Amino acid sequence: MGTPLLRFMFYPMDQLKLLGSSMRQMVGKKFDPEKDIIDQSSKVILITGGESATPIYSFNTSTQPLYTHELMRTPVGNTGLGKETVFQLAKHNPTRIYLAARNTAKAQAAIADIQKHLSQPADIHHLPLDLSSFASIRAAADQFTSSNNRLDTLILNAGIMDILPHRTKDGYEMDFGTNHLGHFLLTTLLLPTLVNTAKKLESEGKPPDNWRVDTQS
Ligand SMILES: NC(=O)c1ccc[n+]([C@@H]2O[C@H](COP(=O)([O-])OP(=O)(O)OC[C@H]3O[C@@H](n4cnc5c(N)ncnc54)[C@H](OP(=O)(O)O)[C@@H]3O)[C@@H](O)[C@H]2O)c1
Repeated sequence: MGTPLLRFMFYPMDQLKLLGSSMRQMVGKKFDPEKDIIDQSSKVILITGGESATPIYSFNTSTQPLYTHELMRTPVGNTGLGKETVFQLAKHNPTRIYLAARNTAKAQAAIADIQKHLSQPADIHHLPLDLSSFASIRAAADQFTSSNNRLDTLILNAGIMDILPHRTKDGYEMDFGTNHLGHFLLTTLLLPTLVNTAKKLESEGKPPDNWRVDTQS
């Protein structure tokens, strides 16, 4: 099922939707999360670092490209890219979203803020995760896999940069240990669940490439 042609033959409607979205962006139409994010029904999503209170602002997607520095405030208020991603995906009916973050109070506050701005509540859970500790990553993966047999989308968003030199709990340089090694270990531990989800999708006649891993970090 690897080539675009084969994917088109087996899943024409899904491929047409993707093509339509790409064409719209090529002719200057902006990405619109309301219309361009596909239905997330039955999907389980895990995002790292979705609770940031960094004062960058939600995107006014009706007038601006998604990735721009000319950002405008929307009702969600102070938000990092991760929190905005959770908010936008939560509007499209996912089964569950896990917000994986090291600070419980900030994570709970972010979830409450997101819920407040949704027209109907979404199932969003905090998953304790410190990417600078292999033990914490293993515990988070265990907690996730013990209560989920599927993972459709893994978004590696948490990240740090330009910090003073210090080391992770396992002795690695902090940026490298958090952004790269931490996410690498998390992905490796969750890979069996991702692969099983792809197989399940295929057996249900859905495109197996509907599952994905995105890296922002
Ligand atoms: N904004 C941009 O223009 C831009 C451009 C290119 C790439 N990116 C990347 O996109 C991602 C999100 O950007 P952003 O601007 O939203 O960043 P941000 O506001 O700084 O948020 C970073 C997130 O990572 C979390 N994090 C840091 N260390 C962690 C750890 N050890 N364990 C768990 N979570 C940890 C932070 O949680 P705490 O609150 O606990 O610190 C926070 O939620 C980052 O990886 C960034 O490098 C951003």
